[in-house]
Amino acid sequence: MADARVLHLSDTHLLADGGLHQGLVDTTATLRHVLAGLAGVGPLDAVVVSGDVSDDGSAESYLSAQELVEGFAVEHGAAVVWAAGNHDQRLPFAEVLLASPAEGPLDGVHDVDGLRFAVLDSSVPGAGYGELGPEQLERLREVLAEPAPRGTVVVVHHPPLPAPTVLHDALRLQDPGALLDVLRGTDVRAVLSGHYHHPFVATVDGVVVVVAPGVANRNDVLVAAGQERAVRGSGACLVELGPDGVRTTVLTVPGPGDGEELFVLTPDVVGRIARDAGVPSS
Ligand SMILES: [Fe+2]
Repeated sequence: MADARVLHLSDTHLLADGGLHQGLVDTTATLRHVLAGLAGVGPLDAVVVSGDVSDDGSAESYLSAQELVEGFAVEHGAAVVWAAGNHDQRLPFAEVLLASPAEGPLDGVHDVDGLRFAVLDSSVPGAGYGELGPEQLERLREVLAEPAPRGTVVVVHHPPLPAPTVLHDALRLQDPGALLDVLRGTDVRAVLSGHYHHPFVATVDGVVVVVAPGVANRNDVLVAAGQERAVRGSGACLVELGPDGVRTTVLTVPGPGDGEELFVLTPDVVGRIARDAGVPSS
């Protein structure tokens, strides 16, 4: 029996003015469709959106996300927890979704009836890979020093896990071990991430990490080595926290054109993106 239920969404990639993600997907309509499909999910403690809320960084895209997700959350008695991803822009993200000025990484701590959400901003402005600075990790260590009544859920866009494709490997979280070190021996019950547009759950160093599917599209992890391919497809995860552990249900919301190819990147293009947005070579 779960004592906490969290709906985990990620990578909505919304745009202003009816813009299309990758020129093909109306992500605002897709998010609306996904939330309508999830209406029967039942009561929730929180709805978490683990980054890449916007694709173009426009205030309008954040206002759309706020209207849709917060409307859904109210209907389910849930709080909303937002985290920033590599496609987000800190200034409009903070102004619209956090109602606060952006000063450095958009980290935060939220108390939901004793269940604590510790949000880390792993984005690096202008880059696609993820990083957590020593100050961020130190602040997290201080937060976790005191257990919360119902434990803690960490939300961070870039998962502390290996990536499913070559492109995402170049855009992975740097030094995931540094984060896992901070989590060891604390009251953290799960880490919720996105970024890979591909759902999976893994246990690393005794910590359960849940990577949500993307709302915007689905990463075809069976693509030939070195390529990157995305298809239509959206979903979310229901994360239920119980006394014996974490149960994650991947919720796929069927939509028109599911499985249709959206783009394929050749190894050359993957290499260029990796050079431009990936981990800097030392
Ligand atoms: Fe994304």
